Amino acid sequence: MHKVIFDTDPGVDDAMALLFLHAAAQVELIGITTTFGNGTIETTTRNALYIAERFGIAAPVAQGAGVPLVGEAGDPPHFVHGHNGLGDIELPTTLSRQPDPRPAHRLIIDLIRANPGEVEIVAVGRMTNLALALREDPGIAALVKQVVIMGGAFGIDGVLGNVTPAAEANIWGDPLAADEVTGAAWPLTMVGLDVTQKTRMPTEYLRTIADEAGEAGRFIWDISRFYEDFHQKGGVDSIFVHDSSAVAYLLDPTLFEIRRGEIRVVSKGLAFGQTIQKPAAPPSPRVTGMAARFIKSAPASTPMRSAASTRQPCAVWPEPVRR
Ligand code: BDR
Ligand code: CA
Repeated sequence: MHKVIFDTDPGVDDAMALLFLHAAAQVELIGITTTFGNGTIETTTRNALYIAERFGIAAPVAQGAGVPLVGEAGDPPHFVHGHNGLGDIELPTTLSRQPDPRPAHRLIIDLIRANPGEVEIVAVGRMTNLALALREDPGIAALVKQVVIMGGAFGIDGVLGNVTPAAEANIWGDPLAADEVTGAAWPLTMVGLDVTQKTRMPTEYLRTIADEAGEAGRFIWDISRFYEDFHQKGGVDSIFVHDSSAVAYLLDPTLFEIRRGEIRVVSKGLAFGQTIQKPAAPPSPRVTGMAARFIKSAPASTPMRSAASTRQPCAVWPEPVRR
């Protein structure tokens, strides 16, 4: 059984991923924490509470950061997720579900401390809540089973960013937080844009979900109309499955090919928000051969894993931020 904290900014694809987690028999969702991103923090928290209420998800929902560690949140991408973050479907004006009284990073700490070695974090928004949790209680890193992130891009097949030519949205929104999170001593896998832009749902598939997956399926159909339109305007005849790809990795990592190595995030300058990986493999002919094969034939799904156990000193590679 996976004991999961879902850190999220719903968001159309976040909502799909939340329902995916809720539907997975092998997942016990123990906490939902919200962050700014696809909407303001008020909007994303309202959306998380709405989905939890409508679909009977019992996990506590805690509101998280509304701004990055440094700087301002900026305007949400209304052109992607709609003004209400859920494709501008009609939403109720009042909800019965109330947020947990704790801030998100505190709920994260409490859940990890209450379940040492068991918690898996799936983070699909800005990494601010995770960074705040690490700053407040650095000891949690050693108590987490794994962290799976949707974010970043590593240039596989030329995929580099979706906000700038160097940066993916979740990382660009708070690169300092992402650098602290990727540098922490916990097992972490990034399912980057290189993977999630290859993982697509065409309209016919979404229609099948609407027809065959009950109320959740009809909801996914409704919220994805706006999101699909955004993709079509950009010349993509299907939707990118960003956040659910991180859930898929959690449930079945064998679907993915992994490249190991430390990850750092650029938090200043022209490449603001860029994710960079130092391959962990030692420079032996055997491993060089593997790397070459990997580059030539990157599979459809290629997450990047930062493996703390294979850290190697490198003169020009700054050590990860450790708190
Ligand atoms: C990521 O940014 C958000 O718009 C999506 O929800 C996803 O988490 C893709 O870059
Ligand atoms: Ca998201």
